[in-house]
Amino acid sequence: MAPSRAVLNFPRRSLCQIASRVLSTPQRRGISAYGYEQAKCLAFEKLGEPKDVLRLHGHSISPPHGELLTLRFLASPINPADINQIQGVYPSKPTFTTSLGSAEPLAVGGNEGVAEVIAAGTKAKGIQKGDWVIMKKQGFGTWRTHAQTTADNVVAIKNKDGLRPEQVGTVSVNPMTAYRMLKDFVKLQPGDWFIQNGANSGVGRAAIQLGKLWGYKSINIIRKRETGMEELVQDLKSLGADVVVTEEEFEKREFRDMVKQATDGGREPIRLGLNCVGGKLVNSMAKHLATGSHMVTYGGMSKQATMLPTGLLIFKDISFDGFWVSRWSDLNPEEKDACIHEVLDLTRKGKFKDVPMQTVTWDVKTKQEELIEAVQGTLEGYRSGKGIFLFGET
Ligand SMILES: NC(=O)c1ccc[n+]([C@@H]2O[C@H](COP(=O)([O-])OP(=O)(O)OC[C@H]3O[C@@H](n4cnc5c(N)ncnc54)[C@H](OP(=O)(O)O)[C@@H]3O)[C@@H](O)[C@H]2O)c1
Repeated sequence: MAPSRAVLNFPRRSLCQIASRVLSTPQRRGISAYGYEQAKCLAFEKLGEPKDVLRLHGHSISPPHGELLTLRFLASPINPADINQIQGVYPSKPTFTTSLGSAEPLAVGGNEGVAEVIAAGTKAKGIQKGDWVIMKKQGFGTWRTHAQTTADNVVAIKNKDGLRPEQVGTVSVNPMTAYRMLKDFVKLQPGDWFIQNGANSGVGRAAIQLGKLWGYKSINIIRKRETGMEELVQDLKSLGADVVVTEEEFEKREFRDMVKQATDGGREPIRLGLNCVGGKLVNSMAKHLATGSHMVTYGGMSKQATMLPTGLLIFKDISFDGFWVSRWSDLNPEEKDACIHEVLDLTRKGKFKDVPMQTVTWDVKTKQEELIEAVQGTLEGYRSGKGIFLFGET
């Protein structure tokens, strides 16, 4: 391994010490001596399709001083919004910087993840070596082996007992979104129904489970697939879904009758709709809502404009709302912290299951192409699980 620029900048008298440490201490591969970390990140210089703009970039991180913390990432998911951000079609823009030792400013992909604090500066408060942390805000850049930051940019997960990195690394976006949408728009009572599309998504699965825990019933719309249909229906039912239906079945007259029956002729009202798909489907979903209900849009996976039924706006007082977890988190940091710990407690107790995942191990041997392929693959539908980087020895 070529010596990094940072190591060469070390005071002359320390070089012998460094050399002797390197020779005498077994080192984890990829780590320089004397607290310097050889970091890698999946980064981009310009916006575009992930396969065209992403590249693996290496840089050195010096030992933390003052309030700085050095992090080693454990797990970082690949969410649809991460792709939109690289494409430049997401409202929260990536942060381009030259602080990673590149000639041109670079932005690191990924917004969610969990990391372990592997070193802390002498003035770091509230967080110590060995703690797990998740990112407080979007735009951190989590597709990286290491990072350096301060405590105000992270939330510490002090009690990691019974939790796996992939569970902690996926708690702050999808479960949070489902949690807030179920709680903040309508005061649902036990026995009330909600209806959602994209029900097998990470958010959809979280909504099914949290809804069940709080006594709400759910109608869950998914897309028909050639294989694995029955397994998917059973999977969602095992999470607590009351009704699972394909988009085609949902549009049929018989289904409308069935909903009437299931909701006891409307005496158990459907008072909330959750939409991450868009298009005409939303119009049909809204027709099932009781007077005064809310339809909350949080995604647009079909890329079709969401159709709103004029008559329902006027005569049934249906409200159409949007929800963005980033804005909510920025405005409610303490509530976010409480929500995260509540969901992690449920996870620990086996009451909240993580989503199916397609893991991509990122270690010293992993090639740039494998990482980029995993990111690009997220754009395809009908996937068997959410892509997630699990960091091995880096
Ligand atoms: N507003 C917020 O704060 C917020 C927070 C989190 C997530 N989101 C959004 O919520 C959505 C789901 O995110 P996630 O991380 O939960 O997703 P995910 O686990 O990656 O799942 C993607 C979902 O989208 C569906 N899908 C993909 N292409 C589709 C298409 N052309 N038409 C209809 N459905 C399609 C998939 O269905 P198949 O399995 O049938 O392909 C699957 O249900 C995304 O739009 C994301 O950006 C928003």
